[in-house]
Amino acid sequence: MNRQTAAAGQTLPLLAAGGSTVMNVSGADVGRNREEQRRKRLWRLALVAGIPALLLWVRIATGNPVNVLHIPHIDWVMVMPILFFVVLILAVLGPFLFFGRSPHVLYRPEQIDVRLSDIVGIEPVKEEVVRSLNLFLAHKTFAGTMGGTPRRGLLFEGAPGTGKTYTAKAMAREAGVPFLFVSGTSFQSMFYGATAMKIRGFFKAARKAALAHGGAIAFMEEIDAIGATRRGLSMTAAPDVARSVSSMNASVQCCGSVGSMPGQFLSVAPAAPVTNAFGTSEGVGGVVNELLVQMQSFDSPTGAQKLQSKLIEAINLFLPAHRQMPKPVPPRANVLIIAATNRADALDPALLRPGRFDRALTFERPDQAGRRALVDHFLARKAHHDELKDAEYRDALASVTHSYTPVMIEQLLDEALINAVRRGDMQMTWKDIEQARLATTVGIGQPIGYTAHEKRLIATHEAGHATAAYLVAPTRRLEVLSIIKRREALGMLAHGDAEEVFTRSRTEMLQLIQIALGGQCAEEMFFGDVSTGPSGDLLYATNVAAQMVGAAGMAGTLVSYAAVQGSAFSDTNLVGRVLGDTQGRARVEEMLQEQKVLIKGRLEANQHLIAALRDSLLDRNELVGREIQAVLEAAGGASDVDAPVIDLTDAALSGQAREDIPASS
Ligand SMILES: Nc1ncnc2c1ncn2[C@@H]1O[C@H](COP(=O)(O)OP(=O)(O)OP(=O)(O)O)[C@@H](O)[C@H]1O
Ligand SMILES: [Mg+2]
Repeated sequence: MNRQTAAAGQTLPLLAAGGSTVMNVSGADVGRNREEQRRKRLWRLALVAGIPALLLWVRIATGNPVNVLHIPHIDWVMVMPILFFVVLILAVLGPFLFFGRSPHVLYRPEQIDVRLSDIVGIEPVKEEVVRSLNLFLAHKTFAGTMGGTPRRGLLFEGAPGTGKTYTAKAMAREAGVPFLFVSGTSFQSMFYGATAMKIRGFFKAARKAALAHGGAIAFMEEIDAIGATRRGLSMTAAPDVARSVSSMNASVQCCGSVGSMPGQFLSVAPAAPVTNAFGTSEGVGGVVNELLVQMQSFDSPTGAQKLQSKLIEAINLFLPAHRQMPKPVPPRANVLIIAATNRADALDPALLRPGRFDRALTFERPDQAGRRALVDHFLARKAHHDELKDAEYRDALASVTHSYTPVMIEQLLDEALINAVRRGDMQMTWKDIEQARLATTVGIGQPIGYTAHEKRLIATHEAGHATAAYLVAPTRRLEVLSIIKRREALGMLAHGDAEEVFTRSRTEMLQLIQIALGGQCAEEMFFGDVSTGPSGDLLYATNVAAQMVGAAGMAGTLVSYAAVQGSAFSDTNLVGRVLGDTQGRARVEEMLQEQKVLIKGRLEANQHLIAALRDSLLDRNELVGREIQAVLEAAGGASDVDAPVIDLTDAALSGQAREDIPASS
């Protein structure tokens, strides 16, 4: 009964902290361990200093004191040559003695200035982090009383800048334990085999720190540099259809030279294995194996214990079997290993099995509510005008930063502050943020002198996009309309969803195509000719159409081209697969032509809107937010409000498509 009461008493703090609060460290196992270690250290010091002090005191008491300040005579002629050789040997052997040293940097908790309260906008991950932290703090209770196996490894995966390192640091700060930081690449060495030695060194340092302080958090940044899969073959990840559809927010419609391709359609090369300075790979296998072994070596005996064991073994040789002395049990070092990576799919599966990095936390890009919390968090520290205290502006900022990571939001506000300084102000305004957003997403505006004809052409083209957006998708937010050159974009329209969305209907996809084609239509209407300007628009429209045809079953076929398996040698993206197929290509072409006819008809009925926007652009070069709407309204708004937005039904389109598509080959 006693035992049960004690058990219940011990488990309680863990249960009480099971929610979203971190338990009190001093009352937890980690705090108790630390206190125990501190007492042991004091006893050791008392022994080491006490025995010589006692001896000296006895000598003084017996009238024969020792003069500790008396230094014996040193013959420097003898000592100097010896010193010279010692230094020489050290200089030669030095690099070899230290080449296997752990490359970590150790932070004491009080050196870390991040707390869990500083992490905002990623609530689901934070809750899991707090749970893991409580298990780490109450590891003895969890293992001893409840019979569980404490968590040894956590894997943080997510896009760059989602707060993985930041969260790991905050965990160490909250737990009050040392934080050993190491990056995967720092294990590389010019010596063969040194990587494995460095890994061993790192784990040894983590164990030592944990035994001395009751626990330690060891953090491995970019673990894919050493923990890549052992097969040695690079794998091509399946195309992420859902992501490419959601990334088509068309937030910025850039128009310009052929090079202005949207980045999300480019493929990323897989990471290379660890390579030493002589150019030969140390073998991913060897390094991963070392990592696997070390992940399970938290119970290795310390140096003093090894000596003690040897001594006991020697004594046991002389003792009969029933009098053998027991060897000391190695203490369990309470180390929590956290590894961070941007590419969990590249890691060796053995690293992810239970007992190693068995808990993977995915750091997602924050959602609308998360971004709003981050905006509040960062603006609390950054100087801003009163207009940015307005909830409407803050909500708008959270909307326009769709798919931004926390660090991107922070950087955006820093850029806005720089813009304010450039204006000679100490506080940022909404316009500074808009300018910063354009500079970070599209590039810095470059004042170049267009010819009068070119300027008119670009203004007409952009006005065509904006009018198309206004006519076919009145719910979309028109953010920036500009004819200032930014990187390859000669002009642009930035527009976004009024609210955060994760799926798109067929109608919305068609609207996006129409907006993209609006620029070319305007050129044809006002100049009777087309320029190279719409190349970026056509690229975008083709991508959207290919998604509709090949992945979303929105254009007369239910076949998913995304299901085609790619290989390392013949992989191509979804657009390539759709366009590579005769029927798919015909469907895309037909859809684009059809949408062009529709939008051209509507633009022809609203030429006054295009002309009004064009003239404003020629005058002011850039229109931001409500200014675009104001120009459109001043020009009298849409003159064909009764026209249907898109006169295409599923049946109509698929029936039409089937007739026109050539028979399969
Ligand atoms: N949730 C958050 N709340 C507040 N600030 C954050 C958050 N996430 C990230 N930050 C800010 O972003 C910066 C970068 O974050 P961090 O270094 O943790 O990114 P990461 O995920 O480790 O990126 P990488 O994969 O490139 O290493 C932090 O220093 C912090 O200022
Ligand atoms: Mg990091």
